[in-house]
Amino acid sequence: MNFELTEEHLMIQQAAREFAQTELLPGVIERDEHQKFPHEQVKKMGELGFLGMMVSPEYGGGGMDTISYVLAMEEIAKVDASCAVIMSVNNSLVCWGLENFGTEEQKQKYLTRLATGEIIGAFCLSEPEAGSDATSQQTTAIDHGDHYVVNGTKNWITNGGSASVYLVMAQTNREAGHRGINCLIVEKGTPGFEIGPKENKLGIRASDTHTLQFNEVKVPKENRIGEEGFGFKFAMKTLGGGRIGIAAQALGIAAGAYEIALAYSKVRKAFGTEIMNHQAIQFKLADMATEIDAARLLCLKAAWEKDHHLDYNMSGSIAKLFASRTAMAVASEAIQIHGGNGYVKEYHVERFLRDAKITEIYEGTSEVQRIVISRGLLKG
Ligand code: CAA
Repeated sequence: MNFELTEEHLMIQQAAREFAQTELLPGVIERDEHQKFPHEQVKKMGELGFLGMMVSPEYGGGGMDTISYVLAMEEIAKVDASCAVIMSVNNSLVCWGLENFGTEEQKQKYLTRLATGEIIGAFCLSEPEAGSDATSQQTTAIDHGDHYVVNGTKNWITNGGSASVYLVMAQTNREAGHRGINCLIVEKGTPGFEIGPKENKLGIRASDTHTLQFNEVKVPKENRIGEEGFGFKFAMKTLGGGRIGIAAQALGIAAGAYEIALAYSKVRKAFGTEIMNHQAIQFKLADMATEIDAARLLCLKAAWEKDHHLDYNMSGSIAKLFASRTAMAVASEAIQIHGGNGYVKEYHVERFLRDAKITEIYEGTSEVQRIVISRGLLKG
C-alpha cells in the first residue's frame, strides 16, 4: 500500500490551492451574502480544466483520474463550497454520465463544450414528491415516435439557472416502474421548458438552485441516454461517482474551517496566552485533525477504487456519510474556537457550517447513504 501522491497529483493539488486562494477567496463572503453566481470564477475554472477533469482529452477534458478530482475538489471547497458544487455536478453527474453512456453524437455535441466549461450542465432527478425515493418519478416523457413529450416539475436543481444542458429523468412507462424511466438531454431554451425562481438557501448560496417546469417539451429521441428504460440505472450509476465528489466537497469544508480555526488559535489570546496553549482548544484541534484525516482517507480510497474499476458504490457512500458528518462537526467546533467572532461573517467559519449541512442532504441524504452501505454489507 502506498499513501504517497504522485508528482502529477501534487501539481494538481497545488494548482487548485493557488486558484482557490487567488481567485475564489476575494469576494467569497459577498457572493454568499448576495447569492451571486460566480460567473467569472466558473469561467476561469473551465479555462484551468477543473470542469471536465476526468473527461478524456479527445472530448476536451483533462484525462485525469478520480484521485486528482478529489484533491482539486478539496482545495476548491476549502475556500468556496458553492464553486465546489458547481464543479462537482458538471464533472461527476453531467460529464461523467455523458462520456460513459452517451452516444458519439451526444458527446460531440454536448460533452466537448461541457468539459471545457464553455457551457455547464445540470442533473435533474429530484422532484417535489421524489427526493430520496427517486424511483417515484412523476415527470413524464411520453413516446411520440421520433420524440418524447416531457411534462412535470424538477426541484432543487443545482446549476438550474446557469446551465445550458440538462439531464432530465422522466417516466415513459409507469407500469415498468424504475425500468420505465429515461434520461433525456434537454437544452435551455427548448419551448415549454421554464426555469423557476432561484431558491434562497441556508448555505452554498452562490450556487444557483432552481425549480424547473416542463410543459409539453418536445425532446428528440436521439437525446435519450442509453437504451429505453435505462434512465434510473443511469442516475444511480452517475450518483455513485457523484457521491465521491460530494464527499470531497465535505472534506474541503471541514479542512477549510479547521485551517482557519488553527490559525486563529495561534493569534487569539485569552487568560494571558494564545488560546492554542489551552488544553481545551488543543483537544478540539486534535479531534478535528483526526476526523479530517479519516475523511480524506475514505475519499481517496473510494476514488482509488473507481480508478481501478472496482465496485465503488459502497465506498463512495461511506466516504460521503463520514465526510459530511465531519464537515458539520468540524465547522461547528471551528466556530466554538472563535467564540463570538465565529458567529459573524468576516471570520468565514459560520459560512462553513451553513455550507456543510447540504452535504448531508444532496446526492442522497445520510439516510440514503446508510441504505446503500447496508445493502452492500448484506450483499457481501
Ligand atoms: N448502479 C446500478 N444500478 C443500480 C444502482 C447502482 N448504483 N443502485 C440501484 N440500482 C438498480 C437496482 O439494481 C435495481 O435494478 P433491478 O430492479 O433491475 O435489479 C434498480 O436500480 C432499483 O434499485 P433499488 O431497488 O435499490 O431502488 P430503491 O427504490 O430501493 O432506491 C435508493 C434505492 C438508494 C434509495 C435510491 O433511490 C437513491 O439513491 N435515492 C437518492 C436519490 C439521490 O441521491 N438524489 C439526489 C439528487 S441529485 C443531486 O442532489 C445533485 C445536485 O444537484 C447536487
